[in-house]
Amino acid sequence: MTPAGSLLTAQDLNKAYGSTPALDGASFSVHPGEVVAVMGPSGSGKSTLLHCLAGIVTPDSGTVTYAGRELSAMSDAGRSALRRSDFGFVFQFGQLVPELTCVENVALPLRLDGVRRRAAERTALEWMERLEVEDVAAQRPGEVSGGQGQRVAVARALVASPKVVFADEPTGALDSLNGERVMELLTESARTAGTAVVLVTHEARVAAYSDREVVVRDGRCRDLEYAV
Ligand SMILES: Nc1ncnc2c1ncn2[C@@H]1O[C@H](COP(=O)(O)OP(=O)(O)OP(=O)(O)O)[C@@H](O)[C@H]1O
Ligand SMILES: [Mg+2]
Repeated sequence: MTPAGSLLTAQDLNKAYGSTPALDGASFSVHPGEVVAVMGPSGSGKSTLLHCLAGIVTPDSGTVTYAGRELSAMSDAGRSALRRSDFGFVFQFGQLVPELTCVENVALPLRLDGVRRRAAERTALEWMERLEVEDVAAQRPGEVSGGQGQRVAVARALVASPKVVFADEPTGALDSLNGERVMELLTESARTAGTAVVLVTHEARVAAYSDREVVVRDGRCRDLEYAV
């Protein structure tokens, strides 16, 4: 059973790395157009949860259901195709392709979707303007600042109008003004396009943009909405 109206649901996920439990009975769900902030101490399992939700990491047990389909029942190729067509990512570490320029990085999801180079790069530049990083379009990720790279990654996550955006500390390297800009764009995408946003953050001011906060502790999720 998945909660009514939910787009993406995880039930009772367990995942261990050797003898280290990363997830220990984690359950989670998000609706279309909902922004959920995932919080919790370092090492509590937040990134592992995100990677399981996105079908990047396979849990040892438990199920992830996206739009009525169980991810573990799909082939690797099916999961990859789903990630390309429906999901956008801002990873916590090393996310951009170093050999490509920033605009080519942002355009990549569209190119993989078969959009022609010129059109893909035009759309990519529009997103880069929204994030105020159009001036680094021709540079490679190694030649831009951490904050600029992070905003390029946010542009890439949003460029192909995904159904779900997974963002792992997308504002970690940003000053408060740019952090606000990123959050405004993510929440606008949720309001206008119905994008579900799953966002890991340590910052209360970032979580304040969310509709709901979930705290991960020792590999389990607790929904603050239902906390006593
Ligand atoms: N690839 C891996 N190999 C071994 N152990 C891992 C791996 N990934 C995560 N772990 C372990 O699993 C646990 C959960 O890690 P995870 O990265 O999910 O935490 P997190 O909540 O995202 O932490 P942070 O806030 O520091 O990013 C930790 O104990 C971590 O050391
Ligand atoms: Mg993490």
